[in-house]
Amino acid sequence: MRLNDCYRTEDFRKLAKRRLPAPIFHYIDGGSDDESTLRRNTSAFDEVDLVPNVLAGVDAVDLSVNVLGARLDLPLFFAPTAMQRLFHHEGERAIARAADRFGTMFCVSTVGTRSIEELGALTTAPKLFQIYVHKDAALTTNLIQRCRQAGFNALALTVDTVVAGNRERDYHMGMTTPPKLNLRGLLSFAAHPGWSANYLLRERFDLPNVSEFIAAGSDAKMSVVDYINTQMKRSIDWDDAAAMVEEWGGPFAIKGVMSVADARRCVEIGASAIMVSNHGGRQLDGSRSPFDQLAAILDEVGGEIEVILDGGIRRGTHVLKALAMGATACSGGRMYLYALAAGGYAGVERAMSLMRGELERDMLLMGCRSIAELNPSCLAARSSGPGSPW
Ligand code: FNR
Ligand code: LAC
Repeated sequence: MRLNDCYRTEDFRKLAKRRLPAPIFHYIDGGSDDESTLRRNTSAFDEVDLVPNVLAGVDAVDLSVNVLGARLDLPLFFAPTAMQRLFHHEGERAIARAADRFGTMFCVSTVGTRSIEELGALTTAPKLFQIYVHKDAALTTNLIQRCRQAGFNALALTVDTVVAGNRERDYHMGMTTPPKLNLRGLLSFAAHPGWSANYLLRERFDLPNVSEFIAAGSDAKMSVVDYINTQMKRSIDWDDAAAMVEEWGGPFAIKGVMSVADARRCVEIGASAIMVSNHGGRQLDGSRSPFDQLAAILDEVGGEIEVILDGGIRRGTHVLKALAMGATACSGGRMYLYALAAGGYAGVERAMSLMRGELERDMLLMGCRSIAELNPSCLAARSSGPGSPW
């Protein structure tokens, strides 16, 4: 299978699986515990059907949306993901370029492998920085200042990661960051010489946004799970979030909100957006999927705060269903990570072209000219018979 044979997210996933050493593939692909939330994040979209309107006289569609103070040409942007350099040597640079190319936004993880400064200088595409509240308040303040200087548009505070999720695939595979070679890992790395040569011969692996703050020589510098469990403030609360909204003073998203009560509190502390998300099924298994929870959140805070649906997106129709329900925009992780692993920038370019093509075609088939024309009357719940419960 080659890049040109990939048409759907699952195709990129298969190619990624062939290209990557197993521990790295499973780090991307896996979820926590029994992975029931991971699966439900995508299957939830099947519970709701699109109901098109015909003879709508539409010959061109406008996919643009406004989110976090930026105008995006696509209603879908790149969610923050850790350590992209492990997936392909182009790492975050490829995602920044793709955001530019498709007129969308990308979000850089605190534990990204390219610096805030480098990515800020690389592109004028809208940029979001994903931040955690650290035990060391100086580190958090340092990140905020650097984002401001580098021209980032907005911050996203991730709140569902006070402790690392139980990713059992990672234990089975011996996934450590950077990769340490146990016997099983050694065989897998040896079986992927292309990846291994790129990893070993190019720049040293680093987490440049945080490494200067983490004690030299400590393994925590390099392990994401250790990083979460040792560096982040576990007892983070609403006062911390409110203080960060104020310290930043610009567009601000809270990522990982699932309950209606929490969505209300996000409005109260002055956040601009919530990302309805369970971290792609990587944290609390058995928790509800973002799409299943979306209607309840919109009932409570719709119109008062931007609502971003994050998680499970594999198809253009998934995006359209969330937007029809009332979401402002969507974000996704694996939909571009598999493509990055499969072919670097070229892979992401292909995946996003296909996704944009799906969105355009499906809007035409829905009889909708613009995202604003998608509304709950375009949806019907499969279990409730004709008519829309929203
Ligand atoms: C993530 N995600 C994530 N989120 C975050 O706030 N900071 C991070 O560093 C990461 N890292 C990360 C790594 C990998 C490999 C994955 C797959 C995900 C979660 C991410 O932002 C997003 O919420 C999910 O990926 C959404 O689910 P889908 O689109 O992957 O189904
Ligand atoms: C993950 C962390 C880094 O999901 O957010 O792997």
